[in-house]
This record gives sequence, structure tokens and C-alpha cells, in this order.
Amino acid sequence: MPSIVAILLLVSLISCHVSGPRTQGPLRKAAVADHITLGTAASAQHLGDQNYTRILGSEFAELEPENEMKFGRVHPQRDRYDFRGADALVSFAAAHGMAVRGHTLVWHQQVPQWVSAGNFSPAELSASLEDHITTVIEHFAGRVYAWDVVNEAFNDDGTMRSTLWYDQPGIGYAGMGTRYIEQALVWAHAADPNAKLFYNDYGGEGMNRKSDAIYAMARDFRQRGVPLDGIGFQAHVDLAYHTPEAMSSFAENLQRFASLGLELHITELDIRLRDGSPDSLAAQAKFYADIAKTCVQQPACKVLQTWGFTDKYSWIPRYYPGMDWALLWDAEYRKKPAYFGLLRALRAHGKHF
Ligand code: G3I
Repeated sequence: MPSIVAILLLVSLISCHVSGPRTQGPLRKAAVADHITLGTAASAQHLGDQNYTRILGSEFAELEPENEMKFGRVHPQRDRYDFRGADALVSFAAAHGMAVRGHTLVWHQQVPQWVSAGNFSPAELSASLEDHITTVIEHFAGRVYAWDVVNEAFNDDGTMRSTLWYDQPGIGYAGMGTRYIEQALVWAHAADPNAKLFYNDYGGEGMNRKSDAIYAMARDFRQRGVPLDGIGFQAHVDLAYHTPEAMSSFAENLQRFASLGLELHITELDIRLRDGSPDSLAAQAKFYADIAKTCVQQPACKVLQTWGFTDKYSWIPRYYPGMDWALLWDAEYRKKPAYFGLLRALRAHGKHF
């Protein structure tokens, strides 16, 4: 007859094996079971906050620097790169078994003065961008598995956004549509052929003029062998505009991109509110669950990331005065209904293929 102690030891060994390492929280585990990588944006300046790091390192399997890899941060002067903030985040991720998504190499915001006021000729600007892309990607090669190479290059009506990179004296392809995006992808691929390269944007979640334009570009790139591996759908949601009905074409949109053989990531999910009332929080929880369900049910949707995880540090109040409450934990690190809604959805809609 085995002793009770031996039985308890056996049970605890089995349950330890089944539940995996102690560092995996419920959300992370549920997503792993769905073959989805659950990620979040993070900031190096908060790594001294123990509540922050405890949740970040246990509940998420992927980290994306919220700002630390942007041009202005990482390349503040023409001949000086500063990887300190980004390196701290990449080290944190490695220590917690997390993957890292890089964000972002070509964007019209967070461009340093030396670039925006540099009065460069197209050839000089082009050389500077090539150097930037190459240096940053090579620095993180093997540690960053995917990059948002170009971010937010389209207007909502599907035309190209007027930016430093697109316009004269841009990188020399003004008037040539998506040609500068293609060039950036080619440079990125040369710098790290193993990295997955993404185009990332907001407002193109459903079927609309913007997603039509992104789709046309992606189809063209795939047909011509331009190194584009996936599309990032940011998903910054305002419940006043993005009703579940308005988002109902999200699944249809994902499917057309999936048909091109692309990998799909939801990259910056947050759902901002005008108040923190129980009704608003419940509506938000349902929306988080709906988005998770949409991703889980699409085989090409491999990553679901939130744009931060605690309301304590969200970008929302600074950009949308009066709005807040967008994330899964409140400012005191209490789990919100959105956390439980997302968890239930991940558990209920597992991929079974
Ligand atoms: O860190 C400095 C601080 O030292 C300084 O005192 C302070 C003064 O304003 O600025 C701080 O930097 C701010 C930074 O956020 C960190 O808080 C920048 O001014 C501010 O512009 C920056 O905003 C970021 C914004 O992108 C612009 O880069 C937000 O945190 C970040 O959440 C937001 O993220 C973008 C994605 O990259 C692309 N998609 C949309 C998304 C939301 O706008």
C-alpha cells in the first residue's frame, strides 16, 4: 500500500508537469493552449515597479517595447545609437521566456530632430534610413523575431499618408505609392533574413478603404516576392465608434489577408472608455472577448497583444483627455472584468486543429 505522502508527492509532480513553470499565469497558459502568443507593450521606465514586472513576466509570453525601439529613442543623433532602454526590455523578456516583437523602424512620429530638420537630399535621407534599419535590426538579430518595419503609412481613405519618408525630400520614391515601404522591407530582410517582417496600422481592422489599400499592397508584394511576412492590426478601440457591429467584418478582413499566406498579429489592442462604470467595464470585457475569439478562430492569427496592461501607465489619458480605463488591470493592479472576459474567451474558443 503506497503511503499517503508518496501519493501526495506523485500528485504534486503530475500537477506541476501539467501546469508548466510557475511563472505562467492563467492568461498566458490559456493562450498557449490556443496556439496564440499573448503579448503586451512594455516600457523600460516601469521595470522598477514590482507589481508591473510580476504581471508582465507571468501573464504574457511576448513583449513589445512601447517606445524604446522608435527612431528618436534608439538613434537620437546621426552618429549615435542608444539601445539601453530597448536592451533592458529584451533582457527582461529573455529572463521570462518571452518573445520580442520590434516596433518600429519607419514611422512619421518620434523622428529625431537631426532627421526631420536635416534638410537632406533624397539620396542622403535614403542612406540614413538604410543605415538605421540595418543597424537596429542587426543589433537585435536573434533576439527580436518580428518587426513592424513600416507603421501607419496610409490615410483612412486609403491614400498614402504624407510623411517625411513618402514626400519630397523623402527617400526618393515620392509619387511612387508603396515603393518606399517595399524598399524598407528589402533592407530589413537583408539585415536579418530570419526576422518576420510586418506592415502595421490602425483603423484597418474591418473591411474599409484603408484595409483595401493595405490588402492591395500586400497582394502586390506577395506576388512579386517582396519580403512581407505579415500584417499588424493595431485595434485601438473606442466603444462609441467601434461597436461590435462595426467590427463584424474583422473576421472577413483577416481571412482575405490570410489567403495571401500572411501571418496576422493583433498588435496594440486597447479599449478606451469614457467612464469606469460597471456597465462600461462589462461592455469592454465583452469586446475583449470578441476580439480574442476572432483571433483564435483564424488559423493565421498567431499573436494577440494589448497596448500595455495596467491603466496606471496607459497612453490613453494623455492623448484622449477624459478617456481612460482601456486595459486589463486597473491602476491599482486589480484584475478588471476585461481580464476575466479575455480569459474566458481564450479558454472557450481553443483552436482544435
Ligand atoms: O519619456 C519622456 C519623458 O522623459 C518626457 O519628460 C515626456 C515629456 O512629454 O515625454 C516622455 O516621452 C513620451 C513617451 O510617450 C513616453 O511616455 C512622449 O512624449 C510621447 O510622445 C510618447 O507617446 C507614445 C506615442 O506612441 C508616440 O510615440 C506613447 O507612449 C505610445 O503609447 C504611442 O504608441 C503608438 C504606437 O507606437 C503606434 N500606434 C499608435 C500607438 C498609440 O499612439
